[in-house]
Amino acid sequence: MEKKYKDLRSIPWVEKYRPKHLNDIISQTLTIQSLKNFVEKKTLPHLIFAGPAGTGKTSTARSLINDFLRTERIPQDCILEKNASDEVRMGKLDQIKNFVFHKGITNVNLHKFVVLDEADNIPKAVQSAFRRIIEMAPPNVKFIFMCNFVEKIIDPILSRCAIFRFYPLPRAGFDINIKSIAKNEKIKVSKSIFDAIYYITSGDMRQAINLLQMIVALHEDEKLNNIPVNPDVVYEISGYLPPKKLNNLYKQCKSLNYTETLKIINNLQGFSSRGLFRQIMSKILSSDLKYPVRERILTIIAEYDYRLTLEADPQIQINGFFANLISILGEA
Ligand SMILES: Nc1ncnc2c1ncn2[C@@H]1O[C@H](COP(=O)(O)OP(=O)(O)OP(=O)(O)O)[C@@H](O)[C@H]1O
Ligand SMILES: [Mg+2]
Repeated sequence: MEKKYKDLRSIPWVEKYRPKHLNDIISQTLTIQSLKNFVEKKTLPHLIFAGPAGTGKTSTARSLINDFLRTERIPQDCILEKNASDEVRMGKLDQIKNFVFHKGITNVNLHKFVVLDEADNIPKAVQSAFRRIIEMAPPNVKFIFMCNFVEKIIDPILSRCAIFRFYPLPRAGFDINIKSIAKNEKIKVSKSIFDAIYYITSGDMRQAINLLQMIVALHEDEKLNNIPVNPDVVYEISGYLPPKKLNNLYKQCKSLNYTETLKIINNLQGFSSRGLFRQIMSKILSSDLKYPVRERILTIIAEYDYRLTLEADPQIQINGFFANLISILGEA
């Protein structure tokens, strides 16, 4: 037991392999090129990094600061990192104001960075307060806002910042990153495992690295440097249906066999309902179904997925979804 979970207690690989410099960031090519230009010209605007989780926003912010300051580790008095904590959301911004306006005794020209994560979770009234702080801030202080949805940031902040969008890592970028981690950790991983990890995490590199570390940790009792996992295990521990099961489920739907479909669904354990919708969606998109059937199905997937975000009962929604799916397929 002790040994089995040793790896889970060691440093998380997402931290161990977090890029330190802009050159280490994979993909996001246009963004990285522009940021390198800023570093070269020794001038920076305020920035917004927007995009989905695990695509490199925090890593890029830290790498940019390291490169800009020519350091390996950002000095503590140069950076204030905050997220949309209760304190910030309630508009208690004293710590930020002190950091921005305090001149310091030793070096008044010190470059300082306020890195604000989850900026899209900050209420608009508090965002307005930030607008004033940005306006009054001395030129040696730069703001980096990070968010998943740039639409939730107010215009006055958007117009004062350069906006960079981050995208889910494409397969090529994922391969470079994950393979170099596997190599460094001296583990052999088969292509089918990488395929499974990419399918599940679809470009979220944090989730991908965590999943790899988890698989390795669970197999530490076995030959450490050769991960013999059946890829189905990777799908199952992530709450996804392995391809064979998914194909069978879809086959039953296409043959309009609701009883068998329900049987399969009811036998599934510990799976993610939203993940299941995503898997069915990818099946539909790669199928030979045509307009208007395909479009009707995509519409109901969107509806049912939305209902799950509203905390509807997953079992009832899934039964309803498959009933709906089969009746649409039956009319085709
Ligand atoms: N583009 C990338 N290049 C190299 N590594 C990456 C990249 N994106 C993510 N990673 C890896 O994933 C981990 C998490 O990335 P990071 O914290 O930068 O994501 P994020 O975009 O800030 O996500 P969130 O929106 O959840 O805060 C990093 O430590 C790094 O190991
Ligand atoms: Mg982040």
